[in-house]
Amino acid sequence: MSKAELIAVAKDRLEHYRAGTMALGDDVFRVPASDYFDEDRFRLEVERIFHRLPLLLAPSAELPNPGDYKAMTVCGTPVLLVRDTAGELRGYYNSCSHRGTWLTAEGTGNVSRLACPYHGWTYDLQGNLTAIVSEGNFGDIDKSQYGLVSLPVTERAGLIWCTLNPDSNVDFDAFLSGYDDLLANFGFESWHLFESRTLRGPNWKIAYDGYLDFYHVPVLHRTTFPNIPSNKGNYYAWGPHQRLVFPDVGLDEAAATPEAQWSNEFLLDGVWTVFPHISIASFDGGGRGVMLSQLFPGATPGESFTTQYYLMENQPTDEQREKAHEQFALLKYVVETEDYETGLRQQRALESGARDHVLFGRNESGGGCFHSWVKDIIEADDQQLPGLFQTRP
Ligand code: FES
Repeated sequence: MSKAELIAVAKDRLEHYRAGTMALGDDVFRVPASDYFDEDRFRLEVERIFHRLPLLLAPSAELPNPGDYKAMTVCGTPVLLVRDTAGELRGYYNSCSHRGTWLTAEGTGNVSRLACPYHGWTYDLQGNLTAIVSEGNFGDIDKSQYGLVSLPVTERAGLIWCTLNPDSNVDFDAFLSGYDDLLANFGFESWHLFESRTLRGPNWKIAYDGYLDFYHVPVLHRTTFPNIPSNKGNYYAWGPHQRLVFPDVGLDEAAATPEAQWSNEFLLDGVWTVFPHISIASFDGGGRGVMLSQLFPGATPGESFTTQYYLMENQPTDEQREKAHEQFALLKYVVETEDYETGLRQQRALESGARDHVLFGRNESGGGCFHSWVKDIIEADDQQLPGLFQTRP
């Protein structure tokens, strides 16, 4: 599970810690302000990023048992994730082969088969059409040709990725660039989903910029995270995916401890972003947990939606449950009231034409890296796209 790579990052952090430095990018990075509100640019991002790349649609903890399903609309596409009777995760368009309606409303549940609510056609969990109501009167069709449309799905490290294009030529391994091996060190496949909720926010990139940024923490979050005085962040990239860690906070103990005794929590701390729309950050309210934030563009450039999943390593006791609730409530306030309200004001100012471009300093190089990937992906045609993930670091 690539523990050696985690140790290499930890050693690099400790070098910066001892030297009082941080990892800096090569130069200040500029992003055109219109990238955050231009309608054509927004449409390209949705089509070329969200409709072509693997998206992390759920933690495995949301569908732990055979028959568990999750129906959701992702950038306009109805998706149905199902764990089949053998425990294998499957992905389909949530659309009946008869006249196309949703097989099930958005949400989660458990079923032994998928029955369409319109005329009652049924499918097994492997997506095969198994029964047509009044089949003798319906007329001859080959049922084997009318199963559900499968979407590419993979389940790794206790996380589920799905691609909205059934004919995608983007390879999961190349796209993930080994990042899934690192995430596997969390052991999410045995974690529990404690709570989830969805928040409305600004343009999806304005929202995502905030997850890639420690520069703002001691300013915007000075009262909610008073124990984090640092605004420094080191970025480590695997393909388009970036991990962000403090080079100067929480390292005293590790610096005084032999490498062999470094804890998993230390080796995995910080923020793990999964391109193009996920952030995973560790917290300790009521026991070891993470908040997995999943962003999607809304219907317009100025709107996004974020589902926050609070995952816990162990089922909490009653006392831990209360603390976990408090932690999760604080995270709602931090993101909704501090980050996204600030982001919505940024959105309005940029839409007004007040600025030509925005800046990412050498100390926030992860933002530049993210926006470079966005630009390169939307400029790549379908033939060029897979090559991006084999040639970039
Ligand atoms: Fe599903 Fe008719 S639309 S059975």
